Amino acid sequence: MSKPLSNIVVLTGSGVSAESGVATFRDKDGIWAKYDYRDVATPEGFAADPVLVHSFYNDRRRNLPAVEPNAAHLALAELEAGLTARGGRLTLVTQNVDDLHERAGSKNTLHMHGELKKSTCMHCGDVCDCVSDLSIADTCSVCKREGGMRPYVVWFGEMPRFMDEAMDAILAADLFVSIGTSGAVYPAAGFAGEARNAGVPAMELNLEPSENAWIFENSRYGPATQVVPQWAAEILSQSLSQ
Ligand code: OAD
Repeated sequence: MSKPLSNIVVLTGSGVSAESGVATFRDKDGIWAKYDYRDVATPEGFAADPVLVHSFYNDRRRNLPAVEPNAAHLALAELEAGLTARGGRLTLVTQNVDDLHERAGSKNTLHMHGELKKSTCMHCGDVCDCVSDLSIADTCSVCKREGGMRPYVVWFGEMPRFMDEAMDAILAADLFVSIGTSGAVYPAAGFAGEARNAGVPAMELNLEPSENAWIFENSRYGPATQVVPQWAAEILSQSLSQ
């Protein structure tokens, strides 16, 4: 009988939050159908029009209280708790800047593209909680300089966060699972290949085959609120019975 899986790395993208009412990026009605990413998600875009960029992220931050974690977020939190209780581990690496994984109860979460509910000062580098709108008139509470506050999100051309932690977790895992992401944006899109190269099985749970679907040994397609709870329950029952 094979050993139960106990060390799992999950990568999530915007598809996991879609059924909560958070927009994805590249689907037909996605965010990049309405905005040019160069205007709102690059350092150059912010330098050219900080008012537009603040407005873009302020709108998304304001929407957070109106959305709730869905069954997929909850299932991932339960899976983490279940694996942890049995001496295992789930590392959740998310590209999402929303807080739905935390609100569902996930603890071991790495926000590689930052978090909407934080801001950072471009002058001194301080990072602080941010629950209200940001503006170009804001002053940093640490260095007291004006005009340098920006959303704590990673823009195109910037280095995603927690890359060493994510790679270490993937290389030590029994299984890598990609959920609700198109596989269009690197380095996250490269994680499955890194896992396979290291002999770690890779699985995809998505609405439809992603751009790098061929890399995965195993895949299940359907809405995250259906496929994720079903898969998580299978993992937990496997751990219990074997
Ligand atoms: P995308 O919009 O590129 O991909 C969303 C994926 O979720 C697609 O493959 C959809 O098929 C899938 N999907 C949609 N609804 C779903 C559902 N109900 N259940 C399961 N899957 C569903 O979004 P991401 O892959 O998250 O980066 O995009 C990655 C990065 O590109 C984002 O973090 C963002 C973006 O530009 C930055 O802004 C830096």
